Amino acid sequence: MRIFNLRHSMALLVLSLAGGVLAASTNPANDTAQAQGNTLVPAGVSRYQSTVFPDRVILLPTATPALSQRVNWRTTTLVHQAAAGDKSPPLLAEITPAGDGPGLHLQARRFNATSRQVQTDNGVSVHHQLTFTDLQPDTLYAYRVQGLGTWSEWLQFRTAKTSFAPFRALYFGDAQNSLKSHFSRVARAALLKAPDAALMIHAGDLVNSRYGVLDNEWGEWFDAAGWQAGMVNQLIAAGNHEYLKLNEDTPQEKRVLAPQFNLQFGAQFGAASNGPEPLRDTVYFTDYQGVRFIVLNSTEALENEAMAKLQAQWLEQVLSQNPQRWTVVSYHHPMFSVSQGRDNPRLRQYWQPLFEKYGVDLALQGHDHVYGRQLAPGLNKAGTGSEQAGTVYLVSVAGPKMYLVADGARRTMQKVAEDTQLFQLLDFQENELTYQSFTVSGQLYDSFALQRQPDGSKQLLETDTSKLLPARRCGNPDMARKAEKKCWQGDDFGLAAKANR
Ligand SMILES: [Fe+2]
Repeated sequence: MRIFNLRHSMALLVLSLAGGVLAASTNPANDTAQAQGNTLVPAGVSRYQSTVFPDRVILLPTATPALSQRVNWRTTTLVHQAAAGDKSPPLLAEITPAGDGPGLHLQARRFNATSRQVQTDNGVSVHHQLTFTDLQPDTLYAYRVQGLGTWSEWLQFRTAKTSFAPFRALYFGDAQNSLKSHFSRVARAALLKAPDAALMIHAGDLVNSRYGVLDNEWGEWFDAAGWQAGMVNQLIAAGNHEYLKLNEDTPQEKRVLAPQFNLQFGAQFGAASNGPEPLRDTVYFTDYQGVRFIVLNSTEALENEAMAKLQAQWLEQVLSQNPQRWTVVSYHHPMFSVSQGRDNPRLRQYWQPLFEKYGVDLALQGHDHVYGRQLAPGLNKAGTGSEQAGTVYLVSVAGPKMYLVADGARRTMQKVAEDTQLFQLLDFQENELTYQSFTVSGQLYDSFALQRQPDGSKQLLETDTSKLLPARRCGNPDMARKAEKKCWQGDDFGLAAKANR
């Protein structure tokens, strides 16, 4: 019933590109009310409206993370009303090498932001973006961003080194649902496990959205990510839920990127901006300290074959001219599906041959709401020991929506899981890449290492299974009564579910 209501609400959704304003709905109150089952915000309560204080501060990697750094943030429109012709000066950010004393402002350089208004069901806000340039490699910088008559706190980050040096990164599958209630525990557990992580990778579906610009969900995502979003670079792939569906099931059906992803509104996450047109918002790569991270858009590829080909052509260029030590690709829909009733052969047709030809090390994916690890076919071998390694395909889930593992995946994959919130820690060394998947309670669930041999070949070394948690199955006793055969819907835990008891 809730899905029906959300779809129905899309008939009310109007997009207005004029003036850089996205109008979410002719009746924003409807969207607000319908969002409640997926958030902790009671109906009629204001929680995530923008204010004069900067919020949603987020670091995004540029194409040159040793020399530049992108930052985005948000404020209210109270003073800064560019769309209305206001002549207020642009908001600023200040940055300086981070010393140990408090006089950070004394030598700080100032950068002007570009700002765009965004209208959602939480009203009008202004999203600001800028890129700090002329930075020094391997340097700790402190920065702050301006609000309206105020500033953020001083935050700090370290620029990348110009060549390979060991570092760690975190990878998350779909957060998507009950973000404050359930995803926040994963985000915090991951940071406590790896407080020195240099990069956080999100494989799409950060929010549920899809049938409206439900800004409370984005508020909860940033609430869950907390200050770490402003201290650690976030590498973000777009999932299908980052698209809004307009006029669904009609000849006029159209998909539009949510304003939080859309370059036109200044809030896009593809800060490197080196992908192919028309996908530069969501397809890009960055070389971070000797590792090439490539982000693809599987939603566009699956909706439109031409977009799969376009990305394949670009991908071949990026992979064939790649001097980096390791290569990681992230996108949303799995190359090899893990959950029941799903298959994405087009990705295997256009992308997989390139992954294998050019030796992509890891493919970090989401969408299936289960966990699964699949070695490239032909190299698939269960059990312990080492073997010549192709690409390792991972599917994971961070949020609480949980599906069931297909029988075929259970037979062929090295490790699968149902009903488990997870995060992954990637540890890049010069000759070894260690992968560890942890449950939200901190137990090691899956792990392996890729080792480079002196002859240039690559071996996969399995972790002793006695050190790993056994395979987990759905533990929801009510699951069998659910028509869709899902372990958890993901919004079973919100305010609406509580009211139905
Ligand atoms: Fe998805």
